[in-house]
Amino acid sequence: MRTTYCGLVSETLMDQTVTLMGWAHRRRDHGGVIFIDLRDREGLVQIVCDPDRPEMFKAAEGVRNEFCLKVVGKVRARPAGTENTNLTSGKIEVLAYELEVLNPSVTPPFQLDDDNLSETVRLTHRVLDLRRPTMQKNLMLRYRVAMEVRKYLDEQGFVDIETPMLTKSTPEGARDYLVPSRVHDGMFFALPQSPQLFKQLLMVAGFDRYYQITKCFRDEDLRADRQPEFTQIDIETSFLGEEQIREITEGMVRRVFRNALGVELPVYERLTYAEAMHRYGSDKPDLRVKLEFTELTDVMKTVDFKVFAGPATMKGGRVAALRIPGGAEMSRSEIDAYTEFVKIYGAKGLAWIKVNDLAKGREGLQSPIVKNLHDAALEEILKRTGAAAGDLIFFGADKRKVVDDALGALRVKIGHSEFGRTHGLFEDKWAPLWVVDFPMFEHDDEAGRWNAVHHPFTAPKDGHEDLMDTDPGACVAKAYDMVLNGWELGGGSVRIHRAEVQSKVFKALNISAEDAKVKFGFLLDALQYGAPPHGGLAFGLDRLVTLMTKAESIRDVIAFPKTQRAQCLLTGAPSNVDEAQLRELHIRLRNPVQA
Ligand code: AMO
Ligand code: AMP
Repeated sequence: MRTTYCGLVSETLMDQTVTLMGWAHRRRDHGGVIFIDLRDREGLVQIVCDPDRPEMFKAAEGVRNEFCLKVVGKVRARPAGTENTNLTSGKIEVLAYELEVLNPSVTPPFQLDDDNLSETVRLTHRVLDLRRPTMQKNLMLRYRVAMEVRKYLDEQGFVDIETPMLTKSTPEGARDYLVPSRVHDGMFFALPQSPQLFKQLLMVAGFDRYYQITKCFRDEDLRADRQPEFTQIDIETSFLGEEQIREITEGMVRRVFRNALGVELPVYERLTYAEAMHRYGSDKPDLRVKLEFTELTDVMKTVDFKVFAGPATMKGGRVAALRIPGGAEMSRSEIDAYTEFVKIYGAKGLAWIKVNDLAKGREGLQSPIVKNLHDAALEEILKRTGAAAGDLIFFGADKRKVVDDALGALRVKIGHSEFGRTHGLFEDKWAPLWVVDFPMFEHDDEAGRWNAVHHPFTAPKDGHEDLMDTDPGACVAKAYDMVLNGWELGGGSVRIHRAEVQSKVFKALNISAEDAKVKFGFLLDALQYGAPPHGGLAFGLDRLVTLMTKAESIRDVIAFPKTQRAQCLLTGAPSNVDEAQLRELHIRLRNPVQA
């Protein structure tokens, strides 16, 4: 029906007659002339309706926002001075000959170009929200990204194979979404937290290179970068080592950025997990922020200040500093606000030293804690942090995890703040990196047992197998994450391909042989039939596109997302079901909700 998209009409079509279909974005009545910005997925074009065509003009008078229209007209130059350089169609306008209302619209609940809409309003009226140019752009980019992924992986010999949605629990660390079985009374399917086990089985089956762009389901606490159902670019290969898997997948992301965004990613940094924690307190450091921790645990063992000496001398404690260049100009209330901020992460306080004048010794320092520190300690702090006049030094002292979390978050917070941006602590760039050599296990102190850091199918480094029995905490995995601008984009590992090593890991995780058989028997079985060495990785597609669009939350790159409370405001899911349906599924509710 149309000759071209509204957003693509440009001076190349000058003086030609075009037929356009779209929605009335805005209508301005200039007494005598009516302007309509006609919108479709490619953008806007200005339609001019002159009264000298009475029938067309009458139709234009009745047009309101979001009416669906057909316009036939002639492309002509906009009068000098009225061009809009932001639009492809900014140099031209279309003089309407015919205007047909294909379908009117009731008054929309909001203006589409209102930038201050609440998310509740947007998600409730998602269809209209999706009509907004930003959302159209986001979803179009998402499509381009997926296409580039497919093209690249296809060229590299990967095969797209679907895996089941109705399946058994895969241990990725979240709660499962369960689906009751009608046929089998009292039994449930779990929706996959990832295709992890199936992709490994496909390697045993000999497919060699697998990929899938697929939904995963995790019932976990939601945040800006998490959804209960999200999409993975899931990849698995046989006969490749860690290094080669990273090379292929890095190539994929590089290609996606180049072709979908026109961005050439820089060389990836690489940090071991231990190094990342040591320097940034995070396994997904935002390397755009130019601040680093200074280690002080050893220095604080001898000070007569419990706040520092306690953590410095206890097992698993840490004392670290974060030097903020130019930070001495921060006010007391700013420091107090940061002190409150780190409490979210369990910190008990936030000691600090302002460096006013290095030449004056103690006199040149302003701080609530220097009186508690002996000369040697103070000297070492200034030396190691490289402090200069005008700097502020923050301190964290606690269990290692608390210090890492608190100072790590503070580092990002200050780096991204107005202060950070105006003091050169933040560099606006793409900062990709690999974090490698993750530990195999982390100790859950509450439960008193070891958990897998990645998942239980991850292989230990060569030579680390025996550590699983003797010192699980020291056992390093062939596991890696790709991180971009402080977000974990993807994670993967080389897998265990021998049944006896897999059994050893289950043992370290305190999963009994019987339990392992019930939960993962099919994997253990498969490993016995000459399973090839294999490994892979999965990217969060939603996160990747969020970063590329610079959207604030992954909900902005998902057509129909869930809220933070795991609801769909558009459809009203989840919702009650009737008694008959429950009965069929052999379910009786503990707390029946009133329909
Ligand atoms: P992992 O659990 O690290 O690994 O997940 C891989 C990537 O998926 C994305 N992601 C999420 N995105 C949005 N919402 C969520 N709730 C969510 N959870 C995870 C992240 C993450 O890096 N089977 C392994 C992969 C492997 O070993 O090959 C796995 O699922 O970007
Ligand atoms: P206090 O002696 O408890 O008054 O603390 C002195 C200073 O140390 C204050 O600035 C506190 O904010 C800070 N502080 C207290 N506990 C910690 C901690 N665990 N880590 C870092 N700073 C702390």
